[in-house]
Amino acid sequence: MINCELFTCDAATKKLYEKAKKERIDTVWDRALAMQPQCGFGEMGLCCTNCSMGPCRIVKVSDDGPKAGICGATEDTIASRNFARAVAAGSAAHSDHGRDIALALYHATGKIRVKDEEKLFKIAGEWGIAVEGKDASRIAREVAEKALSEFGKIFGKLLFLKRAPHKRQNLWDELGVAPEAIDREIVEVLHSTHMGSDADYRNIIRQAIRAALSDGWGGSMIGTELSDVLFGTPVPRKVEANLGVLKKECVNIVVHGHEPTLSEAIVMAARDPELLELAKKQGAEGINVVGMCCTGNEIAMRHGIPMAGDFFQQELAIVTGAVEAMIVDVQCIMPSLATVAKCYHTKLITTSPKAKVPGAIHMEFDEQKGLDIAKRIVKEAVMNFKNRKGEVYIPDVKSEGEIGYSLEAIIKILDRVTNSFAHPSGTVKPLVDAIKSGVLRGAVAIVGCNNHKQPHNSCHVTLAKELLRRDILVVTTGCGAHSCIKAGLMSKEARKYCGKGLATVCELLDIPPVLHMGSCVDISRILVLLSEVANYMGVDISDLPVAAAAPEWMSEKAQSIGLYAVASGIYVVLGVSPAVTGSENVTNYLTKDLESVLGGRFEIEKDPVKAAEKIAVHIENKRKRLGI
Ligand code: SF4
Ligand code: FE2
Repeated sequence: MINCELFTCDAATKKLYEKAKKERIDTVWDRALAMQPQCGFGEMGLCCTNCSMGPCRIVKVSDDGPKAGICGATEDTIASRNFARAVAAGSAAHSDHGRDIALALYHATGKIRVKDEEKLFKIAGEWGIAVEGKDASRIAREVAEKALSEFGKIFGKLLFLKRAPHKRQNLWDELGVAPEAIDREIVEVLHSTHMGSDADYRNIIRQAIRAALSDGWGGSMIGTELSDVLFGTPVPRKVEANLGVLKKECVNIVVHGHEPTLSEAIVMAARDPELLELAKKQGAEGINVVGMCCTGNEIAMRHGIPMAGDFFQQELAIVTGAVEAMIVDVQCIMPSLATVAKCYHTKLITTSPKAKVPGAIHMEFDEQKGLDIAKRIVKEAVMNFKNRKGEVYIPDVKSEGEIGYSLEAIIKILDRVTNSFAHPSGTVKPLVDAIKSGVLRGAVAIVGCNNHKQPHNSCHVTLAKELLRRDILVVTTGCGAHSCIKAGLMSKEARKYCGKGLATVCELLDIPPVLHMGSCVDISRILVLLSEVANYMGVDISDLPVAAAAPEWMSEKAQSIGLYAVASGIYVVLGVSPAVTGSENVTNYLTKDLESVLGGRFEIEKDPVKAAEKIAVHIENKRKRLGI
């Protein structure tokens, strides 16, 4: 048995890992241990399977062994192709999520009223859609159609690129990396990395940058913006977090995955009086819906639904023995859930045609019949309450925090200060003033997943605390957000971790020092916030005293995020190295050379304390260059 004290700092995780071991359940950490030593070729990005003459691998550790693939592909070609394909897959996942939201908006028009008409009109204006004489429903349909055309339009650049500072847009044009249509950019990565196509690592990474930008400033941004239109733009609210939010006496439903269409319908269905009555008949006190991973972020932000846990806690939720159903859609769903669920009474219910899991029950979700299907799914959970078996153990571990800091919410908060000093409202001026005066040294986005190569949660939390004490504001999304709220960093009390300047800013604005900005696609909110700040200051994003960090990242989506952040001019610190280290050229290109091209670059730093030091140096350098 692994010593869980070493692999996580989260108390609920430790307790449930012990229960898992007692009950002989294998978790992600056990499988990771069994996998050691992991393949060195794969880890360095030196294994190629792009054609059936392979697999080929480049030997680096000795002078013997192949130095090129059978086709002659070098380590640079192989490592950059692997990296680009991962970016394309990540961009595809985020963007397909965005497309699904656009389709949901398209089909919803005329049937339901959108929740944020103001945002709908704003997007229509940005995209040149005439609004005079049209009702919200018609505008919503036209916005949805335009969003859908972003995926395959024949000519022109992505519409949301215009949100970036002019200098950035010009740079993208000069470098030829401004994406045109989302699907096309992803297809071009697959084509150019096909056997016998592009062999030039710089050119391969250039195309990967286009695909990545089509994620951040395309698919993800569409996902975020149209989710806000459809379901409402998040506002600050309090929620509880960690596995202690499960309730022994209730029917517990965990909604896990990414797209808010499913989770919104489940939340509504769980409030249905007939189903609540049915739950009582089964002996339960009620129906308790909780969210996991990014679905957790989405429904917490819009409904105050508790955030049950992060990526590494999904199996442990079932190990409590208290989960009647885990309902999943797409992305970050461990196939192992079916195996774990079999050992308990939990029903694992898949809902997307894109993500079926052997051993799960498949109940396909269709937005057009959303509520009806959601009710049937919730009924499955309710009827499963009486089938609980074995020990039910919910650790008494939960915390509380304030979440839901969308860009609109942040501007509204800043207005409180602006108004009191008779400045124009609706701008980021107070934030810029705080940065210029030095009270706030800068801001950092801590994002990303969990990865067994790093201690669970503790890298996110340590990095956040190290930054706070240096008067650096932290914004967070995804599983980074789960880590921070569990550690209490989204509460007002967390001001105790801040330096004097940041503590004052938080007190004045009445905010926590770590701001929850949403799910992984919502990193697009951070891009827009940075653009607003850069535009206000008349500079580019790359001039700002900001950085991003993904200390525990693991997914292809994270590689896409990292690259679009770098291409947007941001210094990005990764706690886990991408699989490129087998090529010195590719590694140097990503971690050094790109800075002179794009103003952003990657840094690999496993240790969160050292990462914070490097970020602080970077921020102070940027301040010096700005003369502040
Ligand atoms: Fe080997 Fe080249 Fe085929 Fe890759 S593309 S598997 S390096 S022969
Ligand atoms: Fe996510």
